[in-house]
Amino acid sequence: MDPTTRDALLARVRFYRDLGLTEFYRRPVDPALLAQSAAEPVDAQTLGAPEPALSLSKGLVSETWGSNSSQPALSPKLESSGTPSFPRSSAERVGNQDSQGAPGLAFETRESNNPPPVFSLHPESPQEDAPIPPRKPIQAAPQIGDEVVPAARAAALQLIRDEIGDCTRCALHSGRNKLVFGDGDAAARLLFVGEGPGADEDAQGLPFVGKAGQLLNNMINAMGLKRGQVYIANVVKCRPPANRTPEPNEANTCSPFLFRQIDVVRPEVIVALGATAATYLLGMRQPLAGLRGRVHSFRGTKLIITYHPAYLLRDPRQKKEAWADLQIAMRELGLKPPSKA
Ligand code: URA
Repeated sequence: MDPTTRDALLARVRFYRDLGLTEFYRRPVDPALLAQSAAEPVDAQTLGAPEPALSLSKGLVSETWGSNSSQPALSPKLESSGTPSFPRSSAERVGNQDSQGAPGLAFETRESNNPPPVFSLHPESPQEDAPIPPRKPIQAAPQIGDEVVPAARAAALQLIRDEIGDCTRCALHSGRNKLVFGDGDAAARLLFVGEGPGADEDAQGLPFVGKAGQLLNNMINAMGLKRGQVYIANVVKCRPPANRTPEPNEANTCSPFLFRQIDVVRPEVIVALGATAATYLLGMRQPLAGLRGRVHSFRGTKLIITYHPAYLLRDPRQKKEAWADLQIAMRELGLKPPSKA
């Protein structure tokens, strides 16, 4: 394989790995071809394999978080207002995750044919867990700021919004329609961080209002919460062209405002949605698959990392894993886990 093609292939694999995608399918290989390639040098054998088919959800059906009507019958403690309340006690257990499935959430993955062979990018090898060297530096978040009393948090967020103003601090401003600051309860106990606005968000000036937002709403509802009870923000506040991943200089320019929003809201739990949110909250780039399933810390606040809803739309089989992550968040918040009934 020529070096240019090899570099392009490696860049693509790294890109998917950054997104937490470590498994790819490939078409069944003709045994005669395999026998022939066994005689070739190792290098050509590995890099010359048939190109992986990137349609990860092929032949699979999932009904999870599909629509409001399919939401689980969870039983959060209801206050007289009828909205679920957060018990204030927060369990300190880590790694003792309740693995109950969500009732009514059919995590069915029905495969129409036999599963194709899995091509794994050595998910269990030490390489997979090793930090990926950042292409450009990622800033660490500054120390947590002073606490703002809950009653003053909405006003404090507005001050940050005012300071951002009609921002031209990075190149993303030039393609912006509306700046997407954040949305939700200024004193929320749970805060979600996404990557950056897409087309719908850019049009409306609100985070997660498109298809991925609909799924996020369903995920929030499955936790027994309403969207208005959480706070939602992104690493960058302006839409990257063609929804590309924000460049480090763009994310480093914008994320200090996110950190200040987090300082004001002071959630008990942060859920990072996807690799970009995880990277800029942790201050380092690592494969997402190795980060999820446990509790991290973002300047003393519990941080849980899970898949981005847009990724879950592309590969619904991963919703089960995401649900397990959300259950960790629920446990840390002391939210009642759903009953199996
Ligand atoms: N994806 C994100 O990461 N954020 C949004 O606000 C919408 C889609």
